[in-house]
Amino acid sequence: MSPVAYNQIAVPAMMYGTAWKKQATSELVQKAVEAGFTAIDTANQLIHYDEALVGDALVLLQQKRGLKRESLFLQTKFTSVDGQDHRTPYDASAPRATQVVQSMDSSLKHLHTDFIDSYVLHGPYSRNGLIAADWEVWSAIEELYKAGKTRMIGISNVSAEQLSQLCAKSTVKPMMVQNRCYAAMGWDYDVRQICVEHNIIYQGFSLLTANGQALSNPAVRAIATRLRCEVTQLIFAFAMHVGMLPLTGTTNVEHMEQDLQAEKLVLTLEDIELIENVAVASRR
Ligand SMILES: NC(=O)c1ccc[n+]([C@@H]2O[C@H](COP(=O)([O-])OP(=O)(O)OC[C@H]3O[C@@H](n4cnc5c(N)ncnc54)[C@H](OP(=O)(O)O)[C@@H]3O)[C@@H](O)[C@H]2O)c1
Repeated sequence: MSPVAYNQIAVPAMMYGTAWKKQATSELVQKAVEAGFTAIDTANQLIHYDEALVGDALVLLQQKRGLKRESLFLQTKFTSVDGQDHRTPYDASAPRATQVVQSMDSSLKHLHTDFIDSYVLHGPYSRNGLIAADWEVWSAIEELYKAGKTRMIGISNVSAEQLSQLCAKSTVKPMMVQNRCYAAMGWDYDVRQICVEHNIIYQGFSLLTANGQALSNPAVRAIATRLRCEVTQLIFAFAMHVGMLPLTGTTNVEHMEQDLQAEKLVLTLEDIELIENVAVASRR
């Protein structure tokens, strides 16, 4: 079920997310790769991620297990000044296009590589629409793509309106979207529809943490019982069945293994329909 982007690059079916892991980042990334994850998500943003510790893990995995760069899919992000504290990985007073170039250079150093697989704009500057600053940054990201520094480009925390605008006016459309996926919003239905239209890979995050009610819904739990799986696995399997690439942020090796097994579950159309509408049903 590996998703393929419109530029024909295949992406692993699930990603391991490294937010909020702090000092445990290196150890957890090593465990995730040993458990079978081949795609890692990070960001050059010290408030929530430690990209350099992801890089440390990759070096250790190369030394201990002979891990090859090509066998991993590495995704990182450019985070604007608004999403950073004083530890910006670029000169915060430089023009935005320069900030993007400096942030990418710093990511390549942190991750000990000369290319990124997917480079994501962490989020637009404003909640509504795209402003000049977004276009400035997106153009700089497009240039990194054209220069071969990254194999794919994407955007995160984006609304349907913003994504439509980006697809309509960019020179290079995003290949990836990464959004928090709420069951209450039809599992981000509007944004996912635009992704389908433009052949963009949709990555869903906080599928578990944002959807406590869906996970505890008796009808959803009954499907998990029938399939003899954990309800967490069911949610990841559902996400893949509707075309998402799920991210998991687990810190537990057993959960890492369980989450990866979700790809093997087979849901019926009725199961999918029930889960798609679970938030609507529980509001009645
Ligand atoms: N672009 C953005 O702005 C943005 C924002 C937030 C997150 N993200 C990305 O998305 C990633 C995932 O986010 P998230 O951590 O919110 O996702 P998540 O996987 O929904 O939540 C992680 C939580 O789920 C639990 N969990 C995972 N697998 C489980 C299992 N099999 N059984 C029981 N519990 C399980 C974990 O507990 P245990 O540790 O006990 O397993 C942890 O508490 C982040 O690391 C980051 O890479 C991006």
